[in-house]
Amino acid sequence: MIEISIEQGKCTRCGRCVKVCPLESFLAGKGRVPRVERQQNCIECGHCVDVCLGGCIRHSSFPESKIHEVKRELLPTPGQLMELIRSRRSNRTITRKPVPQEAIDDILEAARYAPTAENTRNVRVTVIRDAEAVGAVEDSVMRFFVRLAGVLMSRPVAPLTRLLAPDLYKGGLELKRFERSWLAGERPCTCNSTVLLCFSAPSGYDFAMHDCNLAYQNASLMAEAHGISQVYMGLIGVAMKMKGKRSARKLLGIPRGHKLCAMMGLGVPAFRYERYTER
Ligand SMILES: Cc1cc2nc3c(=O)[nH]c(=O)nc-3n(C[C@H](O)[C@H](O)[C@H](O)COP(=O)(O)O)c2cc1C
Repeated sequence: MIEISIEQGKCTRCGRCVKVCPLESFLAGKGRVPRVERQQNCIECGHCVDVCLGGCIRHSSFPESKIHEVKRELLPTPGQLMELIRSRRSNRTITRKPVPQEAIDDILEAARYAPTAENTRNVRVTVIRDAEAVGAVEDSVMRFFVRLAGVLMSRPVAPLTRLLAPDLYKGGLELKRFERSWLAGERPCTCNSTVLLCFSAPSGYDFAMHDCNLAYQNASLMAEAHGISQVYMGLIGVAMKMKGKRSARKLLGIPRGHKLCAMMGLGVPAFRYERYTER
């Protein structure tokens, strides 16, 4: 059970907790210490604790050791943040060098700090970093695409799709290109990534896609800040959707009851980009 209280002696009566609580758990009294009401509604967002001028809110979900002062001097300037956003690229020049553990830890921490609808925080990130397991994902998805390309580009089907569904036909050509590259020993689906991050959330949850992709974006910027390549594994997502949830669970280790919503390939790049082009 969640317990929230206000240390009376320390309260500056600033009223900030009343203003920020999204569930209106604090009741203002003119010039008085606010009253805590409806704490059973609390979504544990921590706004009341973080905003309090006197640091006097005691919240059972946030012991003192979990509360930190914001170090404003460490925040990037808008210009620095913009440079990071503009220079982030899907750098596919991934080498065999291992991604440092420190970078992986920061990337996961950045993902954890993304907002979630109603603060549900039920995004899970499954990390695949064993070389054999990453190779197994590539091979399984490629085998699936080879079969699909075989159908799409077969004699009776290809002329029809070329005429009636040109995008599908183009997709078939692209899969054939992937097949050639895979047979030559490349890893076109995973872009030779050495680590895969699979973002999942409960299947029946309305905001699964939103929450996972916000987490993804935080993680991708942190990867860029570390000089680590990140590529969105959209094609693998498509294959997993077509193959079904059981496949995603078996191959990627997605938790039972979860659906795969986003996937990131990571790796140490051969080089970084020198410039960015305008959008
Ligand atoms: C939803 C989505 C799916 C994507 N899927 C793939 C993919 O399967 N393989 C790949 O190499 N890149 C994939 N990308 C990366 C895009 O191709 C890339 O973002 C785009 O080319 C722009 O380049 P940038 O990320 O370097 O700015 C995907 C991107 C998004 C947003």
